Amino acid sequence: MRHEIETLQHTALQEIEQADSLISLDAIRVKYLGKKGLLTDILKEVSSLSVTEKPLVGQWANAFKDQLTQHIDSRKKTLQRIARDAQLEQEKVDVTLPGSHRSLGTLHPITQVIQTVTAYFSRLGFGISEGPDIETDYYNFEALNIPPHHPSRDMHDTFYLNHGELLRTHTSPVQIRTMTSQAPPIKMIVPGCVYRCDTDITHSPMFHQIEGLVVDSHVTFAQLKGTLEGFLTAFFGDDRLVRFRPSYFPFTEPSTEVDVMCGQCMGKGCASCKQTGWLEILGAGMVHRHVFESVGYDPNTVSGFAFGMGVERLAMLKYGISDIRWLYENDQRFLGGLR
Ligand code: DAH
Repeated sequence: MRHEIETLQHTALQEIEQADSLISLDAIRVKYLGKKGLLTDILKEVSSLSVTEKPLVGQWANAFKDQLTQHIDSRKKTLQRIARDAQLEQEKVDVTLPGSHRSLGTLHPITQVIQTVTAYFSRLGFGISEGPDIETDYYNFEALNIPPHHPSRDMHDTFYLNHGELLRTHTSPVQIRTMTSQAPPIKMIVPGCVYRCDTDITHSPMFHQIEGLVVDSHVTFAQLKGTLEGFLTAFFGDDRLVRFRPSYFPFTEPSTEVDVMCGQCMGKGCASCKQTGWLEILGAGMVHRHVFESVGYDPNTVSGFAFGMGVERLAMLKYGISDIRWLYENDQRFLGGLR
């Protein structure tokens, strides 16, 4: 009997050690300790032994049972640990890997410039107005004192639509629309799209302008100069000088064009300023009396100044963009670099 138990013990322990899954381990438990298990059979036999043999064999069999239970438990723990380690290995995360990058969008450079300019003029008390892109000859040309033979009225320069309408060639018609609908004082800034039959590396058939208009009873040319010089030094920096050149626009008298010192050569002259040292930025002037007359204002009691500038040109000079078309191509490699 003892020999029988020892042999069983030996093979059982070996089987437990070799069990490679919780399922096979449980099969071993059933094989030895189950209702019809090998050890259960032995324990049943114990009752039929003689009085002298009974306690001894009973002891052996019970010790074997305890040992078997202990070994199964410890093997179970080992197998569970192995299974968990394997699972962790599979789900392992390399915390040193770079995270997935989601880049933040930025405002388009044209929007940035419009916001910078309108924010500046808002601080000076200017309101922001807008007008329609589709205009009539009256608002775009006639009321602005642009004569019938003026080259900008030519089919080559302006997109004409049906029924005498056209795509506005500048934001100046909003001056007329505003003045005909309200009395002075007026202090406004007008951002918007404008259209011209023109395309090359610095011209696009659609581009943006910002118009300014100040009308009151005693508006002076000195105020025009102070306002525009203040804006241009704020936009381009204190180190860039500003100069006013006499010019001509049909809707202003006197008229001026305003230049900023070239940022590339600081006035010395280089390729980007065509050796002049200066870059033309905007047109301006004192509102022409004919314009006041066309909106029903008395030119003897009101005065005003106006100005207009190209947004793309401001953006190109500020960010050093050499081809206007990049502004419309939505290429992230280009747009992402402008901050
Ligand atoms: N409208 C002009 C243009 O498109 C720009 C301009 C010049 C606007 C002088 C003005 C101004 O208001 O006073 O070229």
